This record gives sequence, C-alpha cells and structure tokens, in this order.
Amino acid sequence: MIHINENFLNLQDSYLFSTVAKKVAEFQKNNPDKKVIKLGIGDVTKPIVPAVIEAMHKATDELANAETFRGYGPEQGYDFLKNAIVENDFKNLGIEPDEIFVSDGAKCDCGNIVDIFAQNNKVAITDPVYPVYLDTNVMSGRSGSYNEKNQMYENIVYMPVNKENHFVPELPKTKVDIIYLCFPNNPTGTVLKKEELQKFVNYAKENKAIILFDAAYEVFITEDNVPHSIYEIDGAKEVAIEFRSFSKTAGFTGVRCAYSVVPKTVYGYTASGEKISLNKLWNRRTTTKFNGVSYVVQRAAEATYSQEGRKQILENIRYYQENAKIIKNGLIEAGFEVYGGVNSPYIWLKTPHHMKSWEFFDELLEKANVVGTPGSGFGPSGEGYFRLTAFGTQENSIEAIKRIKEIKW
Ligand code: MLT
Repeated sequence: MIHINENFLNLQDSYLFSTVAKKVAEFQKNNPDKKVIKLGIGDVTKPIVPAVIEAMHKATDELANAETFRGYGPEQGYDFLKNAIVENDFKNLGIEPDEIFVSDGAKCDCGNIVDIFAQNNKVAITDPVYPVYLDTNVMSGRSGSYNEKNQMYENIVYMPVNKENHFVPELPKTKVDIIYLCFPNNPTGTVLKKEELQKFVNYAKENKAIILFDAAYEVFITEDNVPHSIYEIDGAKEVAIEFRSFSKTAGFTGVRCAYSVVPKTVYGYTASGEKISLNKLWNRRTTTKFNGVSYVVQRAAEATYSQEGRKQILENIRYYQENAKIIKNGLIEAGFEVYGGVNSPYIWLKTPHHMKSWEFFDELLEKANVVGTPGSGFGPSGEGYFRLTAFGTQENSIEAIKRIKEIKW
C-alpha cells in the first residue's frame, strides 16, 4: 500500500492564488459581459524588452547550428550569466560566481531550500507572508498542527507586520533557527531600513540561525537607506541566503529565470555540532535534482544587464511605478488607508468599516469588477487588509481606481 506524505493534509485549503483564480473564473462565467480588471496575482503585463528578445533569438539560432549547439549546461548556471549577476547585482559586496545558483524561479528556490535543513528547525515567518514559505514548511513537516482558532501552526513563530509596528517585524521572542524575510515586502509593499535589517543579522549570528532573504522586488526601491541586498548588511554573508528573480524585474514570469545566492561562508550544523557548508549542500541538492535553466533563457537573463537591456527594462519599471502611484493616490483620494506602493509594486490597503478581507474581495469584484488579493490569505495579521498590484496596464489601473471611487463604501 502506498502511504502519502500526511503533512500535505495539514495544509489549508488550496494555494491562495488558485483560490482567487477559481473565484474570478466563476464570476466571469456568471457575468460574461463584465470587463474584469485583474490586480490580484503579481503578474507582469509589459512584453519582454527588445534587447532581451534579440538575445533569445540569437541563442535559438545557436542551437540550430552544430558548432554552437548546447546540450546540458552546468546545473548551477552558465558562467556568462553568473559573472554578469555578480558584476551587476553584487558589485563590491564580495559575492563570487560559485555562490550563485541560477534556477527557474524564486518560488521554486524558496520552496526547495527547505530540503537542506533538518526537520526540527524552528521557523519564523512574518505575518502576513508570501504563502510559499509557510506551505513548504508545512509540507516538510516543520509546522506542527494548525490551530483553527488563531489560524496559526503550533510550531511556527509568527512575526506580525502591521500598522501598529509600522510594518517592521520584531525579533522573535523565542529562539528560532530559520527566519524568512521578504523586503520590499510581499504582500504589504513596505521595506526595512538598513539598521532594522542589521538587527536580524545580529540575531542570526548570535543564535546560529539562518535568514532566507527574498529580494525579488528590490528593483522597485526608490528611497535611500533601504538595502537592495541583505549582503549590504555587516555580517550577512555569514548568516543569509538571498533569492532574486528576473520575473518582476525583467518581466520573466513566463520565461522563468531566477537565482539564489548561497555564500561559502554560511554554515549549518549537524546534530553533533559539526559545521557544514550550506553552499556545498545546496550544490549537491542542485546537481541531483536540477539540470539547469535553458541556454536561451540564460542568454535572455544575461541581456537584461546589457546597456540597452537595462535601459529598456528600467522604462518598464518606471511604468509600473507610475501605476503604483496612480493606485495609491487614487485610493487615498477615495478615503482609504493605504501602505506600500513607494518601494514596491504592491499596494496594501485597510478595508473600510472593518470589513473582512474576503468580504471586501467579493464586494470589489461584484461592484467594481476589480480583482485583488485578500490580506487574510497571507496570514492572520493580514485580516482586514487587501492587496492590489501595480503590474496591470496603466489603462486598467486608472479604470480600476475610477470604478473604486464610484462606489459608496
Ligand atoms: C504574488 O502575487 O504574490 C506573486 O506573483 C506570487 C509569485 O511571485 O509567485
């Protein structure tokens, strides 16, 4: 008899964005004449820029030719891309190419990284949180059971981020081993200043813990003193793994390319206290379970760093930043309490009249035919909040705000 991994039975409902998609599909089916505007999942709408498309075409042609054909590439990524990453994203931060692991998505990296950690590690997440960090730890048996009452897992340490603490999580009060941080934050769109992140790095050093730092949205940072990489923080190279993605930066949500940074100076420990390099473990895991990102896609990612590529991509980022402004200012004018949207493509609003997040979702869909993501789907502290993304078209962002303003909340 085949036995299942029963940890999966411990997961809540379906994956957040699948639930939202299902509800929207149902609404569309019943209201085929309504033009629904989707500002829910953070998926980009701008096409891939010409410099990147050109690189993809060129790489495709290379594959058609016996002299330039490529089969399996290095599991960790081609040197040309790893060198470009180090040179452009980590200049003067002391990161080396063999600390970069190119992959098909930061979501996969954040999910897969748990493979290299023991089951009895204590995990801390912010609340609300990108669901992947939590769900993958539930799947791998680190969460303990779910408490319906407080909507929390018994073995997970939740670090609330809300307006009361200005969206800056407090250090865990109990000792933890793995800390997930995502800044600019998904879903709240808020950021940590250097000195705030330094406290977490210090905590990790003191407690021999690790920080899993998701920097997928760093390109949207506009303010000073907000770190783009955790390696800007003293001591982080000893305690942090960073995840980056080309999805939101270069519009690769469909193309798929990302990377993780695992410094050779980051260690974990065996039960008997022996120090083990996490870079070595992750490399071992990668070579066994992954055969690398396609050559064409890695050439595309490389082209995002060319002068022309960078310029074209920045234009797209400015476009999304303008959307964020339109949405944020529009919501403020409509009387909403709004956070994020300045260093991030996410706008986090407080629902009016203490409405529950899902109630607001339904009303917004019904009355304005606009889709967003309910804050409670990201964790109990997200209840009463709601997320909109700036990744739609400008036309839709303007129209969504117009419709929201027309409703009497
Ligand atoms: C989101 O909407 O939170 C993101 O698009 C999800 C993801 O990047 O997987």
